[in-house]
Amino acid sequence: MNDSLHKFIAGLPKAELHLHIEGTFEPELMFEIAERNGKKLKYASVEDLRKAYSFNNLQEFLDIYYEGAGVLIEERDFYDLTMAYLRKVHTENVRHVEIFFDPQTHTERGIAFSTVIDGILRALEEGREELGITSELIMSFLRHLSEEDAFKTLEEGLKYKDRIIGVGLDSSELGNPPSKFERVFAKAREEGFLLMAHAGEEGPADYIWEALNLLNVDRIDHGNRCLDDDVLSAELARRQMALTLCPLSNKKLQVCPDLRNHPLRKMLEKNILATIHSDDPAYFGGYMNANFIATAEALDLTREEIAHLAENGFKASFLLDEAKEEHLSDVRAYAADFSE
Ligand code: HPA
Ligand code: ZN
Repeated sequence: MNDSLHKFIAGLPKAELHLHIEGTFEPELMFEIAERNGKKLKYASVEDLRKAYSFNNLQEFLDIYYEGAGVLIEERDFYDLTMAYLRKVHTENVRHVEIFFDPQTHTERGIAFSTVIDGILRALEEGREELGITSELIMSFLRHLSEEDAFKTLEEGLKYKDRIIGVGLDSSELGNPPSKFERVFAKAREEGFLLMAHAGEEGPADYIWEALNLLNVDRIDHGNRCLDDDVLSAELARRQMALTLCPLSNKKLQVCPDLRNHPLRKMLEKNILATIHSDDPAYFGGYMNANFIATAEALDLTREEIAHLAENGFKASFLLDEAKEEHLSDVRAYAADFSE
């Protein structure tokens, strides 16, 4: 790819809507925090840990991801983790982020819900003030755990209702369909939360139908497999239901080993509201810009198509209409004025 397209992507205003904060844990910071908390990692060095980042499927990744998150103990750890992410994406012209955190990954280990969320919220506040990045927080239920467990987590989240915009569903998809969480999602909706679910990453198109019709989600995370079902694809386009795609994640987890075969282009042809994000960038080899570049290179996207994807990111966000319009006009002005 030519340098000018790289430059175009780097300067483009972007919104990150599919990002697990625990997935931004870079090995250097992981070792630093492990040491100050007196925790021992299974790996001797940063290099050894990085070498382990080779995955045949989602579960192999999740095993390492939960292990890494295990060294996060103090409020300060969650603050440092979140701040490092915000500083990183600030250099990439990311203007707005909607971040997932997995409360159960921490409460299961005896860490208080408040320790986790207070650290994340303090960093988000600082990110707004110092870096000008607007943000929202989403709590995700771990789908390999029971619905009862998700109910308990929802209960804890209610104490922070005004600071959490929505709930999500992540972790091991196969065998844990959205239908398992129908009641807890209904309750979350009643409480005023927006709803999202990972669906159709490794799981079948039917799981996307369940997320739509049983959970009544506002957004689908991944959704790659929708193209297996023409009726579903048409329905997603009709509803303008956003799919938050993560190309480097798909490559690394063998969901789509060769990005030249990535479903994104077909989705755009079908008028599906597809967007690009980074998922777990510390593990998958790149943040927002790297995801845009890898996709643009593999699918031979034009500058107009790339700008359209950046616009989709803001359109699919939970920003209020006025803020959305401002970002959209920034993207359009940037694309119109760009010179190589
Ligand atoms: N899929 C499902 N669960 C996750 C992921 C993912 O890509 N990242 C963190 N939790
Ligand atoms: Zn994800």
